[in-house]
Amino acid sequence: MESVTLIAPAKINLYLEIIGNRSDGYHELIMILQSIDLADKINVQKSSIDRIRIRCDNPQLPTNKSNIAYKAAALMTSEFPEAFVKHGGLNITINKHIPVSAGLAGGSSDAAAVLLGVGLLWNLGLTQSELEILGAKLGSDVPFCIGGGTAIATGRGEQLSALPSLENIYIVLAKYRSIAVSTPWAYTTHRQEFENIYNKDTQSLAARAAAVHSRDIVKAIVNRDTKEVAQFMYNDLEKVVMSKYALVLELKEVFVNLGVLGTMMSGSGPSVFALCESKQQAEEIKYNVRKTIPNQDLELFVSQLIGHGIQLVP
Ligand code: C5P
Repeated sequence: MESVTLIAPAKINLYLEIIGNRSDGYHELIMILQSIDLADKINVQKSSIDRIRIRCDNPQLPTNKSNIAYKAAALMTSEFPEAFVKHGGLNITINKHIPVSAGLAGGSSDAAAVLLGVGLLWNLGLTQSELEILGAKLGSDVPFCIGGGTAIATGRGEQLSALPSLENIYIVLAKYRSIAVSTPWAYTTHRQEFENIYNKDTQSLAARAAAVHSRDIVKAIVNRDTKEVAQFMYNDLEKVVMSKYALVLELKEVFVNLGVLGTMMSGSGPSVFALCESKQQAEEIKYNVRKTIPNQDLELFVSQLIGHGIQLVP
């Protein structure tokens, strides 16, 4: 085999609760992660030249060592030096469809696809859990992106337990092209707010305690009760991101006014998604959001929840 092509789906966070600080600077989380059918396409090809080369059709992304797909390939060359010597370099081509810096794990999913693709090209016979361990070295969301579907993630996000799949539910996804949120900034600001406000203000603390419902949303997923899933969605990072970016808050308000089942920011944002009753409702909501916010800076997608992560294109 000289080349493999893989589909790398985006993810949304149905739930993101920060439960504490960690000594390594990360945060202890409870998340519910969900794959969606909005996806990048990655081709991994053997090369006669002894190096890693990245090509990408989105000029916003670097093609050098700072690209997480490059880091994934470099990790494989250092973990499996004999295979690297035997098979030579790697040409990686990324067709980008997932918005960048959006809270949708686009980069993490590309990295997951590179790990899987290189493992296949080099006949390494890696299991999913071996790939997840490699993925955790690249980023907290990479392990989830490998298997995808619906999962509860704990630790810094790398410890996964599968949940029953929520396939065939439709969402509208909205992202302003010009807003890019720094994930470290969002977590640091949340931490500061928690230390400065929540710890001194019992009312804010009680309001947050009333809003966190990880058990209830898991139950709703197990029962496949979409309305309850929507009701118990939560994201601790919404408050900090929405206080800085009023347009993100406005998006949520527009979705609520249009009567969606529920709406939430994904990850550290700025993407906001709305859970819909049907594909038809999702198309109508997308049309009505566009009418309400004609700003062409706003990207809108109808997408479907899916039950898998990285997939090979036959
Ligand atoms: O793991 P990853 O590189 O994707 O994380 C990006 C940033 O998000 C980290 O540098 C950290 O600032 C923040 N983060 C965190 N706690 C987590 C996951 C991410 O503070 N559990």
